[in-house]
Amino acid sequence: MSTPVLVAVAWPYASGSRHLGHLAGAYLPADIYARHQRMLGNEVLMVSGSDVHGTPITVRAEDEGVTPDDIVNRYHGEFLRQWDELGMQWDLYTTTGTKNHAETTQEMFLAQLENGHIDRRVTDQFFDPEKQRFLPDRYIEGTCPHCEYAEARGDQCDNCGRTLDATELIEPRSKLSGATPELRETEHYYYRYSDFADQLRTFLEAKQGWRPHVLNFALGWLEEGLLDRAITRDIEWGIELPVDDLGPGKRIYVWYDAVIGYLSASKEWAQLSGDADAWKHWWHNDDARHVYFIGKDNIPFHTLFWPAQLMGTKAGYHLPDNVPANQYVTFKGGKASASRGIGLTIEEGLDRFEPDALRYALAAAFPEQADTEISEDQIARRINDELVATWGNLVNRVLSMMYKTCDGAIPAPGELEPEDQELLATVDALLEKSAGHFEAVELRAALRSAMDGAQAANQYLNATEPWKLAKTDPDRAKTVLFVALSAINGVRVGLMPYLPFTSERLNEVLGVPSGWRRDELEVGRAIAKPQPLFAKVEITEE
Ligand code: MF3
Ligand code: ZN
Repeated sequence: MSTPVLVAVAWPYASGSRHLGHLAGAYLPADIYARHQRMLGNEVLMVSGSDVHGTPITVRAEDEGVTPDDIVNRYHGEFLRQWDELGMQWDLYTTTGTKNHAETTQEMFLAQLENGHIDRRVTDQFFDPEKQRFLPDRYIEGTCPHCEYAEARGDQCDNCGRTLDATELIEPRSKLSGATPELRETEHYYYRYSDFADQLRTFLEAKQGWRPHVLNFALGWLEEGLLDRAITRDIEWGIELPVDDLGPGKRIYVWYDAVIGYLSASKEWAQLSGDADAWKHWWHNDDARHVYFIGKDNIPFHTLFWPAQLMGTKAGYHLPDNVPANQYVTFKGGKASASRGIGLTIEEGLDRFEPDALRYALAAAFPEQADTEISEDQIARRINDELVATWGNLVNRVLSMMYKTCDGAIPAPGELEPEDQELLATVDALLEKSAGHFEAVELRAALRSAMDGAQAANQYLNATEPWKLAKTDPDRAKTVLFVALSAINGVRVGLMPYLPFTSERLNEVLGVPSGWRRDELEVGRAIAKPQPLFAKVEITEE
């Protein structure tokens, strides 16, 4: 039976170039997972888009003296080009700047207001006495109260990843003028997240198979007490409120609207598909499965706030089933950060490496359980020592020998020896093992299993030496090559989610696999003179 699977992917701020840490943290794992799900025959809807609101955008625009729209268009365009180059198979990659998204957000707001989960409160907010402006979120910087990082922002500390309230910062200063901000009264709408503490606890405690760091973080946050949070800001850039009783100069807070993108993008996708109700198959369906791919700084928003927003709408929307958040990628010990110039940007990665090679090296180092160090040198070594040496050469070796010694076609095998059967059984078992890892969203281990299959095939070739048999026992040589290519036919299934471009080339040689299994080879199918799948890359010592 086929399951509707929503692959929900964190929405990158269109405020600057994204780096390899973002790619390895959220986007690439999502694409790999989605590709596996499609191969299983499930109905995948993979959506995301550029997050175009909030102070990340406006601060950048003010820095450069351009409009927020200029910033959004520049980076949204850059992301679209990179997704293409990387082979990201979105069903829809949109933005939070669409009319559909604004309407979906406003509808949810009104439903929650009606249901009594949104109320109005007068609070103190930082105000810049020189610029005569309120200073929401990233317009404030100061020292993090948790880790003492001196450049924490009013909404979040980039060093320890904690979500902050600007008033918690030690020695706050205005990013606009450097002035010490004053507190001023202002009125805002609040989402009553605390209304959902019990429901969220029940929701989380029922979860099985979640990454321990994600579940523990979410439950720990609940233990500390879930606070109501302002969902509007004193800002001119953002979605307009569907009610006008706060007066002018207020907009919906970016984090309230961004998560709604998963739902609004599903609706937009349905519109575009020609069946405007098609999104309900994923959102109003108990049998659906919703998996959210995010970095760990987004955990509270996806395990607590977004579920609470869905609950408060009381429309029966499907809640998250798994949130396999990744930890951080570090470069030379520091968290990758495009704005601070730490680590390679996606663009730099794509300039230097073939997309499949880059996907491979990052997947082999996905920070699934702990922060994981990545360096350019290590990426290059992984490509040469693993991808090229173990997989690329295997395919090239077997296809070249077959092309030369079997009249350019897949030969009919003789009787299989025990060593032949053993190799094929190993490959089949590893493919099944990798499916188990995929189920648990252990994408590193799933890749390892596939590569173990390639390793087994290499060992088989070294033991059987078909290049010698070609002279002494050509019939046996053909059988060995047939068995080796059969193994390749299985291993490539396990690698397909990781290596979409070179897999496409292998599909031309071997045919499209029928599912997550090793198909029998088509005897007599023509083999063209093979071209290597990958090139070695140069190692530059750092
Ligand atoms: N724009 C946010 C970030 O880059 C992520 C938003 S994920 C969303 O951290 F789904 F909530 F939009
Ligand atoms: Zn901190």
